[in-house]
Amino acid sequence: MSEPPKQTTEIYDVLVVDDQPMIIEAVRRHLQSDPNARVHGCGLALEALARAKDLLPAVILQDLTMTDGHGLDLVTAYRAEPKLAETSVVVLSATQDPQIKADAFARGAADYIEKLPPSLEFVARVKHHAHASRAQKQLVATAVAIARSEEQAEWAETLIFRMVEMARLRDPTETAGHVKRVAGISKILYDAWADIHGVSQAERNNQHELLRIAAILHDVGKVGVRDAILQKPGKLDALERAEMEKHAEIGEGIFLGSRSNLDDPAAEVALSHHEKWDGSGYPKKLRGCEIPLFARITAVADVYDALGSRRAYKEPWPRERIEKFFADEAGKHFDPELSALLLANMDQVERVRDDFPELDLDAK
Ligand SMILES: [Fe+2]
Ligand SMILES: [Fe+2]
Repeated sequence: MSEPPKQTTEIYDVLVVDDQPMIIEAVRRHLQSDPNARVHGCGLALEALARAKDLLPAVILQDLTMTDGHGLDLVTAYRAEPKLAETSVVVLSATQDPQIKADAFARGAADYIEKLPPSLEFVARVKHHAHASRAQKQLVATAVAIARSEEQAEWAETLIFRMVEMARLRDPTETAGHVKRVAGISKILYDAWADIHGVSQAERNNQHELLRIAAILHDVGKVGVRDAILQKPGKLDALERAEMEKHAEIGEGIFLGSRSNLDDPAAEVALSHHEKWDGSGYPKKLRGCEIPLFARITAVADVYDALGSRRAYKEPWPRERIEKFFADEAGKHFDPELSALLLANMDQVERVRDDFPELDLDAK
């Protein structure tokens, strides 16, 4: 058996707008059976809108023919008032004319009750409208919270790319296009890896955003390396190379002291994206699966994109040469499983290059 609908335990206000005090009294008597209902009366059409805006009731019970105005005009006025967007407006009238009933609904009334039905039915209908009003209120609150969190996500995204821009000021190869491609390719590799390792969809969804941002920020530690090193046209000597390699630890340092669940993966990728499967990488000479998965993935994506891009010292490599390189370096530079997955998904990976082409603006 399905569960009965949950009854509200929250106090709600009902505004009865009727020029006959006995109707207001009758409503009050009926609703005495619901301890959560608070009934308020208003006998003048001219005062009704102001009272409603003041009270913000869950339900308005609106009479049709009043001495100083018409109920249908008030229905229109309530519906035009943004403050009353969550209020259920119900017409309460002796009139049985179907045309008037239709008009009331057309103007936005939630219900039309012929006055007055038996208490049991009347109370049930008012409660139903109070419940609908609360549901509407919750819906609006949720929509506002989502809009707020979407706005905050947009701020975060903007700040991330500002960080990338800071790194690019130091190292012109770290463009927005490059990091977006590295992130896109990393996602393809992760999904292919997750397929093989039976990772659930929920877990993948969790990891996608973390990997994307960590991959985008893999080289952000370059902000801490001197221009003379980063922008040196020729080869670096051993000392200069050691200084350049510090960008991995500097990058990790930016994300230490974990303040969000993004910090740990971002720190791992920044620190370990130059480690090599055979232990010959830097800075810690980790080998095999000692290197965190996200860093192994980003390493493949980063090198793939560098090889396929134009640099001051080289033309983009053709696909066959890149494929040969990854086949040769499987188990040396790269996790052999990820090398194989890159080769197996090459068409998809190449499409990422089309999605995020190098803009002239980026490549300066
Ligand atoms: Fe790097
Ligand atoms: Fe890079």
